Amino acid sequence: MSRKPIIAGNWKMNLLQSEAKELFEGIKSFVKDYTAPQLPTVVIAPTYTSLCAVESVKCDCGCGKNKIYVAAQNCHWEKSGAYTGEISVEMAKDAGCDYIIIGHSERRQYFSETDEMINKKAKAILAGGLIPIICCGETLEQREAGITDEHIATQIRAALSGISSEDVAKSVIAYEPIWAIGTGKTCDSTEANRVIKMIRNVVKEVAGVQAADSIRILYGGSVKPSTIEEQMSQSDIDGALVGGASLKADSFNEIIANTMKVSV
Ligand code: 13P
Repeated sequence: MSRKPIIAGNWKMNLLQSEAKELFEGIKSFVKDYTAPQLPTVVIAPTYTSLCAVESVKCDCGCGKNKIYVAAQNCHWEKSGAYTGEISVEMAKDAGCDYIIIGHSERRQYFSETDEMINKKAKAILAGGLIPIICCGETLEQREAGITDEHIATQIRAALSGISSEDVAKSVIAYEPIWAIGTGKTCDSTEANRVIKMIRNVVKEVAGVQAADSIRILYGGSVKPSTIEEQMSQSDIDGALVGGASLKADSFNEIIANTMKVSV
């Protein structure tokens, strides 16, 4: 089964609106030379205040797809109410988002997000017609203690609990080993592929073989233009969630270009 790769840029808490716009323009001018079927699914995730400084870019070849999709970096599971500082799925959609990143290790670590909260967010996102990018990953201590697979399987089972196989199939998972995020220490691609295969097996167990074959599972953690080809050559890595290297148009565009060399 061939799964269309995704290259997603998580801009985290960076860039003012004018800077976000400039970066967006740099990516837009790169994708203009391609059609959406030639490109991987390109997703950018600016901070909330810059969501309206960027926009999704429709393809004009008649394929009905976008050349650039927009993602929010988080959301709340409730539709509205007294949740100061939060945004709903509908608000993200209203601001032009098709995807929402949830369960990023920075949210789990600094804002005490639990597996249960991430499951509620995933359900709300799917109910609202958007696609969750569900993050998971182990700390260095967990890796050294030999509990990586067990920890990630627990995160995935919890995140997907009570979600239909059809909805699981549309979802995206990002495996981001915490020790590889922002450290320059990319996880060896065969090891990342092994963990991602394990995640696919967990998806198969909870949602069936079709969902496991369809769901796109990305790798994240110090992805660079020089690492992406080897990562994309692996059997089960369906793309990348890129942090630092997504903050410059040149490096993000090069990651997209190098992805196209391997498989789109
Ligand atoms: P870096 O690419 O900066 O390591 O960040 C990865 C990440 O956390 C993306 O969500």
